[in-house]
Amino acid sequence: MAEATVTQEVASDLIPIYIMGKQYQVPETLTIMKAMEYAGYQYIRGCGCRGGVCGACATVYRKAGDYKIYTGLACQTVVEPEMYLTQIPFYPANRAKYDYEEVEATPETIYKLYPELFRCVACNACTKVCPMDVEVLDYISALKRGDLEAATEISFDCIQCGLCTSRCMGEMAQYHIAQLARRLHGGKNVPRAAHLEQICEAIDEGTFVEALGEAKKLDKEALKKAYVEREMEPHMSEEDWRPESKHALLG
Ligand code: FES
Repeated sequence: MAEATVTQEVASDLIPIYIMGKQYQVPETLTIMKAMEYAGYQYIRGCGCRGGVCGACATVYRKAGDYKIYTGLACQTVVEPEMYLTQIPFYPANRAKYDYEEVEATPETIYKLYPELFRCVACNACTKVCPMDVEVLDYISALKRGDLEAATEISFDCIQCGLCTSRCMGEMAQYHIAQLARRLHGGKNVPRAAHLEQICEAIDEGTFVEALGEAKKLDKEALKKAYVEREMEPHMSEEDWRPESKHALLG
């Protein structure tokens, strides 16, 4: 992050927050990310999707008069008065190197690549700091007993922000370990999705070439119109919902 001069008109009340020790007055309705930009910081790192899915904006903060450490995503967490915060755009973590084609989808692969897994003392600090409410200790425990499937399920919402690692007494990188578990289990143990293979074959056979060619001929406005007016799946549709138009669909 770098400081820059930004001026912005806002309607909401201003509150004091502390960014890396310096006080700023920011609108009370802003997220931490927007408040930092309002205060004059410009994001160079520590910001990606702005939608709570990329994990780039891990933030640590304390509240005035409160001994606890709080964590959150800067793009999702709204500022509070007297909040003391800093962002952790990167936290050093061990990431094992492996040849995906060569490794077996077994717990032993994980044990070999990440023996520090067994340094877990079950303190649960990892779960407490997770901004996605992932039960980090539960997936680590699942891996220790060799259950790749459970670890895959439990860690599914992980966005790789690394906050778990920043608090781990066993000094492990839980999020990298879980990512390996998901890769192994999802890529090698779970059967291939038949519909995915079907669509890949259709792409290879050129099924969508004509429709794509038509789309490519449209100018920007026509493309926007076609996108906005496209037939969309209703919010509460049945499993077997299919669009009326069979244009560019598989048979
Ligand atoms: S910027 Fe991607 S999660 Fe916050």
